[in-house]
Amino acid sequence: MAEVNRQILLASRPQGAASVDNFRLVETPLKPLADGEVRVRNHYLSLDPYMRGRMNDSKSYAQPQPLDEVMIGGTVGEVVESKHPGFAAGDKVVGMFGWQEFGTSDGKGIQKVDITHVPLSAYLGPVGMPGVTAWYGLNRIIAPKAGETVVVSAASGAVGSVVGQLAKLAGCRAVGIAGGETKCRYVVETLGFDACVDYKAGNLYKDLKAVTPDGVDGYFENVGGEVLDVTLARMNAFGRIALCGMIAGYDGQPMPLKQPALLLTQRLLVQGFIVSEHMDVWPQALKQLGTLVAQKQLHYRESIAQGLENAPEAFLGMLKGRNFGKQLVKLI
Ligand SMILES: NC(=O)c1ccc[n+]([C@@H]2O[C@H](COP(=O)([O-])OP(=O)(O)OC[C@H]3O[C@@H](n4cnc5c(N)ncnc54)[C@H](OP(=O)(O)O)[C@@H]3O)[C@@H](O)[C@H]2O)c1
Repeated sequence: MAEVNRQILLASRPQGAASVDNFRLVETPLKPLADGEVRVRNHYLSLDPYMRGRMNDSKSYAQPQPLDEVMIGGTVGEVVESKHPGFAAGDKVVGMFGWQEFGTSDGKGIQKVDITHVPLSAYLGPVGMPGVTAWYGLNRIIAPKAGETVVVSAASGAVGSVVGQLAKLAGCRAVGIAGGETKCRYVVETLGFDACVDYKAGNLYKDLKAVTPDGVDGYFENVGGEVLDVTLARMNAFGRIALCGMIAGYDGQPMPLKQPALLLTQRLLVQGFIVSEHMDVWPQALKQLGTLVAQKQLHYRESIAQGLENAPEAFLGMLKGRNFGKQLVKLI
């Protein structure tokens, strides 16, 4: 049994773009388990864009990540020791242990998962927080009707890939926006979207117009900036925009809207949301997403960095689009 836990702490707050210097790797002795506790060996760590926001000490929907503490994050792993009646060694669990190799819990905040039909890592992606985010924004905000056109940005990513596939299952025309030809090809050929526009090449407005001949009824926004401006200009009257993320501005870039009057003239609904504030939908969403993944009707892709020490690089890369699908770190 290991006696040392390797952990990554937030060492300093970024000024502008985050860098590897904002993180510190430490080794901490593992304390013996107390009665009622469970020890988990984390197998995968989830890296998510929201972590960038937590690194700042600014007003937001959540408290900032404290300095010199283990970086927050979702994890999946295996119980290696238990003094808790509800858990046994060998159980697979999902939790929020953060950027570290081992987690210790009193049983709260961890749930057992079944890996018979759904791979363990998928509980951090399509059958986890990103999947539920897609499900909520699409079903509860955009509420698409068959035949409508739904556009999603960051379309090859953890959230966006699920949005478009669920929109297709709802009978919609699904159009992605993604960075680069390879990601766009994957979005159409593997994920089954009707079209995908590469925002890094060509003329975004012209290209989006060409693949949304009937305009856009629902827009699932992950990016902000120019991508939002252009999609706004394609919205139909009474369109719905699920404002999920604005990653183009996470380092503090200003993001003025070019044509805010469209919100009025097109009578648009724009609703921001935070998935952790809608826990009531999680069981329903996870059940549907788990079934779709088990039946191979929902496709997903993962970018996997190896080893805790590579988490900061992988995280910074994900913020710049170097990931291709859900960004994970494999810890064992
Ligand atoms: N509201 C909520 O509760 C909630 C929950 C989860 C996630 N989110 C948000 O959902 C979005 C997607 O998250 P995810 O976990 O699925 O990440 P992801 O899409 O797997 O990875 C992030 C992607 O963002 C794109 N990107 C980065 N910088 C960009 C820029 N300047 N312009 C355009 N695209 C850029 C990159 O894709 P390309 O290579 O295609 O540019 C990158 O791969 C994020 O904004 C995140 O904050 C919100």
